[in-house]
Amino acid sequence: MTAPDTPRPPYAGTRYPRLAQVPAFTEFVSRDWADVPTRPQLPAGAPAAASDHRDRLSAALPGRVIVAAAGHAPVRNDDAHYGFRADSGFVWLTACQVEGAVVVLWPTAGGHDAVLYLPPPFRPGDAGFFSDANHGELWVGPSAGLPEWSDALDMTVEPLAALDRRHGELRGAAAARSAAALAAEVGAEVSVELERALARLRMVKDAWEIGQLREAVDATVAGFGAVVAEVPRAIADGLGERWLQGTFDRHARTFGNGPGYSTIVGSGAHAPILHWVRCDGEVVPDAALLLDMGVEARSLYTADVTRTVPASGTFSQTQRAVHDLVEKAHRAGLDRIRPGVAYLDFHFAAMEVVAQGLHDWGLLPVSVDEALSPEGQQHRRYLACGIGHHLGLDVHDCSQAHYEDYMGAALEPGVVMTVEPGLYFHAHDLTLPPELRGIGVRLEDDVLVTDAGSEVLSAALPISAAEVEAWTRAQWADER
Ligand code: GLY
Ligand code: MN
Ligand code: MN
Repeated sequence: MTAPDTPRPPYAGTRYPRLAQVPAFTEFVSRDWADVPTRPQLPAGAPAAASDHRDRLSAALPGRVIVAAAGHAPVRNDDAHYGFRADSGFVWLTACQVEGAVVVLWPTAGGHDAVLYLPPPFRPGDAGFFSDANHGELWVGPSAGLPEWSDALDMTVEPLAALDRRHGELRGAAAARSAAALAAEVGAEVSVELERALARLRMVKDAWEIGQLREAVDATVAGFGAVVAEVPRAIADGLGERWLQGTFDRHARTFGNGPGYSTIVGSGAHAPILHWVRCDGEVVPDAALLLDMGVEARSLYTADVTRTVPASGTFSQTQRAVHDLVEKAHRAGLDRIRPGVAYLDFHFAAMEVVAQGLHDWGLLPVSVDEALSPEGQQHRRYLACGIGHHLGLDVHDCSQAHYEDYMGAALEPGVVMTVEPGLYFHAHDLTLPPELRGIGVRLEDDVLVTDAGSEVLSAALPISAAEVEAWTRAQWADER
């Protein structure tokens, strides 16, 4: 082992000699910097939406001290971290994405006073300006300070140190999971009640949130075009699935915050593998290509869309038959989405179609009714995952909700959810006739429950096999 004070790369320059202890350096580095405007870049309407969200949470948990945190980037390796992505519940309450930030809702006679506690950026004159890789402006660039945040969010903003002085008042507070570390330090409880309240409130999107989801979906639809346009090149140049994954991720990072979840690109035998994010295979020229991709907007609301396209531009007869059955299940699910209908109805409607179709193909060892019964479920061998979920700041939004609030609820306007039936015929599944092995098809759309029924937000992408083929070939025509 190297002794702690021995210089070592890559930080030898900053650690030795310790620059903060070199007066000539600190005097020189502290002066003659021009002021740079540092207003936070926030999506229009985000602060007002967050303020409304805080009011709704305040009403749900009267009298409680409530704590949520942005969190910290996890370690990737040694002293390098993953890119930071703020906690969704925290963003819902604040519209702020600053690493290390904490929000506290302090109870008052009439509700709560919210205070956002931020780590102030280190500016010229602070030792951290040149020595703190997270908050030093020499490392991360000019950053909004507390007055700018307060002005942009129209809320009280104080330095984190001010919260340190109030740790005693946090004892027994209701903390979100995002604030678990702070809760352990101050004797607060990570509160299931708070997590459930947040999830329940986040389930119904307001007009601003729906606008953000529309943006995310629109950017995702454009991303599908960008990826499919690259399919011929990925095949011809042997660039494989990863080229397509990288194409979408670059698109998502350029037109949003990034991909909302790990981008899935599965060609041929990889398509039935539900979370094929390794993407180290080739793009097989005559195979079906499953693309599950979502842009997360800068506000952090994400889309979650899947299409399965023919890499050649034309499905084989067998691929098309599988696609047709998935399409039938998809339309049955979509048809069940409107206000007042039980959440799980879409699931059962799609599953009935799948079970019947598999039975007609001779793949079920039991009758359709037996398969659909809770004691059967044999059809799920080919569709083991769920076929939909709430969508919002998290791809699987509101998963901390009470079971009854999620599964037992009736749909109401403002709910945004996915419908995503599929059939996953694995290449090594010996129950299958050889022609079905290695085919995976999923159709996934993002759906808004409206007053009158529902709206498929991702309707710009086609659903039927013939339309998917035509759309696929049109992306190549655009390239020429
Ligand atoms: N992409 C994850 C999902 O479809 O749920
Ligand atoms: Mn999904
Ligand atoms: Mn998906």
